[in-house]
Amino acid sequence: MKLYPSFIYQLISLYDIPIYNEDLETGAPPTGWKNFRESVRQQDTILFITPEYNRPVPAVLKNAIDVGSAPHGRNVFHRKPAAVISLSPGKMGAFGANHHLRQSLVFLNMPVMQQPEA
Ligand SMILES: Cc1cc2nc3c(=O)[nH]c(=O)nc-3n(C[C@H](O)[C@H](O)[C@H](O)COP(=O)(O)O)c2cc1C
Repeated sequence: MKLYPSFIYQLISLYDIPIYNEDLETGAPPTGWKNFRESVRQQDTILFITPEYNRPVPAVLKNAIDVGSAPHGRNVFHRKPAAVISLSPGKMGAFGANHHLRQSLVFLNMPVMQQPEA
């Protein structure tokens, strides 16, 4: 019998993350930003699960990525291993969003699992 390693996951909600605005970094950044950044910091790895909106990822996920990547030099995604699952009722399984997301993850310096594709 083949044994697979188990893992514990934490679902990180994207609902309460205000739209990114660099001007707000200078004062007291929104609580939603602080909570999200801290949630990501606590993880060893990140599994992104996304649908596809007009080919890229939905704006709510892009916003979360922008918030976590800022301010400059404090990217919370830096060096965290990642994997991507995309899903859609469409025949291509949100292929566009999957690869659009991978482009951002390269820039965030996340090593991303290549195979198997999901
Ligand atoms: C605004 C919008 C754009 C969409 N664009 C695409 C698309 O480009 N490709 C695709 O396969 N599905 C597309 N869909 C279908 C979604 O991927 C599908 O409904 C998905 O299950 C939505 O997940 P959600 O309800 O968690 O947002 C789109 C849906 C919406 C609402």
